[in-house]
Amino acid sequence: MQKIIDKIVNNTQTHAKWLNTLSMMENVGAKKIKNCEDPVFVSEIILKHAAEESRHAYYLKKQIAKVDDKACPTYEKQYLLAPNTSYEYLHSLDLKISRYLKNTFHYTGHRLKYAAYLLVTYAIEVRAEELYPIYQNALTKTGSQVTVKSIIAEEKNHLAEMLSQLKDFSKDWETLASYACEIEKELFDVWEKDLDRITS
Ligand SMILES: [Fe+2]
Ligand SMILES: [Fe+2]
Repeated sequence: MQKIIDKIVNNTQTHAKWLNTLSMMENVGAKKIKNCEDPVFVSEIILKHAAEESRHAYYLKKQIAKVDDKACPTYEKQYLLAPNTSYEYLHSLDLKISRYLKNTFHYTGHRLKYAAYLLVTYAIEVRAEELYPIYQNALTKTGSQVTVKSIIAEEKNHLAEMLSQLKDFSKDWETLASYACEIEKELFDVWEKDLDRITS
């Protein structure tokens, strides 16, 4: 992945699209959290999480101007990198995990929504903790004006928070978590291959 991201950062146009793609994914993530929250019993931790993912989307969007002033005004496909697999990564992850929870654990209603939130978000946080430092490394190497250090700090907290919520939720949390990461890896590999193809 480092090689792919190095190539992305070295080209102004792909770098702007990469930032826009990450912004879109953060925004989809924020919306998914909002969609899962209980209107009455939502906790402070979930409100904070949704707010921070929204901030990441906005922050990454703002960084685009440091690369190319007028690039990527919207999330239309022509302004994204690997648009199809990028969208699919999040939506399929959500779909596959929800189906698994429904069929294997017979969750329904709000419990299903909450369990899906926990697993989807946990798997994404594990990935974010690996991916953002790789990106930051590429930025530092090229002396870019862009930085994602504030996001890295918050993603670290998110992962710890997801783990503690998962442990509270189920004694089977390890099985659940490892299944979520397995599914995530399959989808991430597809996305990575697509990015590799685009940048080669
Ligand atoms: Fe985030
Ligand atoms: Fe996060």
